[in-house]
Amino acid sequence: MASLSTTFILLLVTVSASVSAALSASVIEDLKSLKPPHDFNTTILKNCQHNPSLRYCSSSPMDLDEIFKSTIVASHLCNESKNPNCVESFPKIDLQNDPKMVPLYLSFNFFWKYCPLSILAIDLSNNSLRSNFPVDVLQCTQIQALDMSHNNLFGDVPIESFSPLTNLTLLNLSYNHFSESKISDIPFFKRFNSSSFLHSGLLLDGKKFRIKAVLLLVGFPIFVILMVCCLGWLCFRRPDFLPRMLRPKNRFTPAMLKAATNGFSKKSLMGKSESVDIYLGTLRDGADVRIEIYRGERHPTLIDECKILVQLCHKNLVNVLGWCNNRRLKAIVTEWMEGENLEMWLMGSNITPWSHRLRILMGVVEGMCYLEEWPEVGYDLRTSSILLSNNLEARISRFKIRDQSSSRNRKMYKFGVLLLEMLVNRRPEEEFERGEAGFIEYIRMHYPGNLQKVIDQKMELTQNTFDQAKQAIGLGLMCTDASSNQQVSLGQVFDIMSRAYQSCRVLASHNHERLHSERGKGHRRMQSR
Ligand SMILES: *[C@@H]1O[C@H](CO)[C@@H](O)[C@H](O)[C@H]1NC(C)=O
Ligand SMILES: *[C@@H]1O[C@H](CO)[C@@H](O)[C@H](O)[C@H]1NC(C)=O
Ligand SMILES: *[C@@H]1O[C@H](CO)[C@@H](O)[C@H](O)[C@H]1NC(C)=O
Ligand SMILES: *[C@@H]1O[C@H](CO)[C@@H](O)[C@H](O)[C@H]1NC(C)=O
Ligand SMILES: *[C@@H]1O[C@H](CO)[C@@H](O)[C@H](O)[C@H]1NC(C)=O
Ligand SMILES: *[C@@H]1O[C@H](CO)[C@@H](O)[C@H](O)[C@H]1NC(C)=O
Repeated sequence: MASLSTTFILLLVTVSASVSAALSASVIEDLKSLKPPHDFNTTILKNCQHNPSLRYCSSSPMDLDEIFKSTIVASHLCNESKNPNCVESFPKIDLQNDPKMVPLYLSFNFFWKYCPLSILAIDLSNNSLRSNFPVDVLQCTQIQALDMSHNNLFGDVPIESFSPLTNLTLLNLSYNHFSESKISDIPFFKRFNSSSFLHSGLLLDGKKFRIKAVLLLVGFPIFVILMVCCLGWLCFRRPDFLPRMLRPKNRFTPAMLKAATNGFSKKSLMGKSESVDIYLGTLRDGADVRIEIYRGERHPTLIDECKILVQLCHKNLVNVLGWCNNRRLKAIVTEWMEGENLEMWLMGSNITPWSHRLRILMGVVEGMCYLEEWPEVGYDLRTSSILLSNNLEARISRFKIRDQSSSRNRKMYKFGVLLLEMLVNRRPEEEFERGEAGFIEYIRMHYPGNLQKVIDQKMELTQNTFDQAKQAIGLGLMCTDASSNQQVSLGQVFDIMSRAYQSCRVLASHNHERLHSERGKGHRRMQSR
């Protein structure tokens, strides 16, 4: 031991003697500015002759620069570690509670490579070191004590690198975050008890480790299975609980519909026919929907049709939201319309002025124009199938997919009947012996001279609006006239209706101005074509 210290002194004396004036500067500055003295090679050789076990003696070729730098670091570190007399000995590295300096010293790997043999204890505890285990430190194989407790070291402890430290009797790795591993099987660590590894992630106790391992081995698969089951349950039964991104669009499951209708409760049942039950449901997002549940095998193409209908999107069409295609349950989900249908509206006792009827008709025409782009979608135009929103926006419902009977002419005919029905306010099917044909004949008989008799009184027409209504009846008759080639196109109907609608609005706003000396309001977007 004495000879080792002597060697160390020899070296330090040499360095200190030549550079003592500059040593007060910081370590890094010293490392940059100081150069080995001329006779440094001689000093080293002498030292090695004296004590061949010195670390730098076995390195070949000798890097004199590196060896010199390591002596500079050594002299700083010895002083920093509060060794009583650094000129004589360097027994311990004490960098406890010194978080600023520790990373710097750990970065000088040349120092650790030539770790002075006199060092017997290293204390790096309580420094919040956030890194892997500083393996370089273990090159000081002669040490007897190593304290790395109270840091944030993580990763694996380099177990093999410990085995050369045969004289190590005090080890403290407590309070770190090493990867959990079992060290009880490694002979080297048998000499330490658990107080060396408190809260370090390392486990001396084999039993505890085994329990943890078993728990993990059994627990993790169970956890995964549970998660998969849970996800599967969500996907197949309640996809509305999934995040919006993962939710299948338009697909409703029986469980979703059941939840929306309080288990298909009587209170939610709004209507019933021989093949369809109609429910009012509330989805998880709060939207009210109409759920039509089909019984029996009568609708084999229902779902295919729905897949087309969900693509339709227009303010004058009832929005089809999706479908449920389950072995036990076939259903179509559409938006819920709060208002009444056109038939009920016409039959009501309120005054229903021409301008309101025109607004509804305009909506129907706009919806029909949009549907021109969907030749495969037919629809059943009648007063009972037109739903009205609260602000009298018409919504066409009851679509038919690939319905051969609804040709272009047929559609115009049905529109003509609807138009006439709205002006006359009589039900062709119920009030006329020959149905629609009788109804049209009845109007034709009174056109154009005797219209006062047939026009609905509830419109309260003025002179101006009477002319418009008369024109509209003319248009309706043209649309229903299948015999001649006079039948008008939808485009023409749109132009005529929108002109009438505009002028009616102008009239209305003039009246309004006269009455209230202020400009009439109420904007209506016309669909541009
Ligand atoms: C030391 O290095 C010097 C040149 O820097 C050289 O002249 C001398 O011979 C060397 N001494 C030994 C013992 O290698
Ligand atoms: C050693 O540290 C003391 C303060 O602890 C300082 O005054 C002295 O200059 C240092 N010596 C060297 C050689 O760095
Ligand atoms: C560890 O360091 C903190 C400050 O960094 C200090 O408050 C605490 O007393 C130290 N603990 C020990 C055991 O030295
Ligand atoms: C351990 O200590 C003994 C006696 O002090 C010494 O001979 C031996 O070299 C030391 N072992 C290591 C690895 O330094
Ligand atoms: C663990 O070892 C240390 C010294 O290495 C000793 O002071 C302590 O009493 C031991 N603890 C137990 C529980 O054996
Ligand atoms: C290691 O350090 C912790 C915390 O400072 C302490 O409780 C424990 O007794 C130490 N273990 C040993 C073996 O010194």
